[in-house]
Amino acid sequence: VKVKEIMDPADKVYTIAHRGASGYAPENTIPAFELAAEMKADIIEMDIHLTKDGIPVVIHDDTVNRTTNGKGYVKNMTLEQLERLDAGTWFNEAYPMFARDKYAGTTIPTLDQVFETFGKEIKYILEIKDSAPGTDIETLINESIQKYDLEDVVAIHSFSAGSLRKFHRINPDIPLYQLVWYDYNAVRVSETYLKDIKSYAVGISPNFQGISSAYVAQVKNFGLKVMPYTVNYQLNMDKAYSWGVDGVYTNFPDRLLEVIHTN
Ligand code: G3P
Ligand code: CA
Repeated sequence: VKVKEIMDPADKVYTIAHRGASGYAPENTIPAFELAAEMKADIIEMDIHLTKDGIPVVIHDDTVNRTTNGKGYVKNMTLEQLERLDAGTWFNEAYPMFARDKYAGTTIPTLDQVFETFGKEIKYILEIKDSAPGTDIETLINESIQKYDLEDVVAIHSFSAGSLRKFHRINPDIPLYQLVWYDYNAVRVSETYLKDIKSYAVGISPNFQGISSAYVAQVKNFGLKVMPYTVNYQLNMDKAYSWGVDGVYTNFPDRLLEVIHTN
């Protein structure tokens, strides 16, 4: 597919703040995205689920149990119920060295709130987490992108090829990346597989541990971007950089930027 890429110009390695600067602030919250922007990350990554009343919200898990003071499935709760939850205190308790008063009481943001807060100040990679039958998360996300006029700065990724193909039919102008997980060292992948991905996506986001320099070379030669996740140590960031990846997902954008600037 030929679409405008958010990782252009192509001659640099993009810093993708995974769930925001989530090593230093509660993941998938406005403070974590603000910190990523302050650190000068290029892109913020976030995970999208739908509420019971069909609103796209930013949270990683299916349930609110791990990252809020509540309990239950996101899909069984209305936005009003979700907005009553504290999405930051857990972080202060788990990571006292990075705790900040302002994290306590921060809420699960809606996708619209994030777009409204940052506009074109930063780029976005949205992960479609919820593609339950009967819901239309792809259309709702696309509507939010249009509403805030952010077509040029948003990309979508997902482990679900079905969801990405659906998004591509709804809006072929948004760049898509296929998320993949390899539980072995994927030195080479088949051309048929890459060709299929290229029919709807512009890149692949594999787990760092599953890939090698040969994999990166093969995918790039095929004309697809490659961005490994989630790389939190500078030793591995150096490696990914030397392999010629297009971007790196990290919870610590400052560490990656240091590696990039010293290379
Ligand atoms: O950055 C890739 C990553 O977002 C996919 O896994 O579980 O962190 O959403 P996860
Ligand atoms: Ca994600």
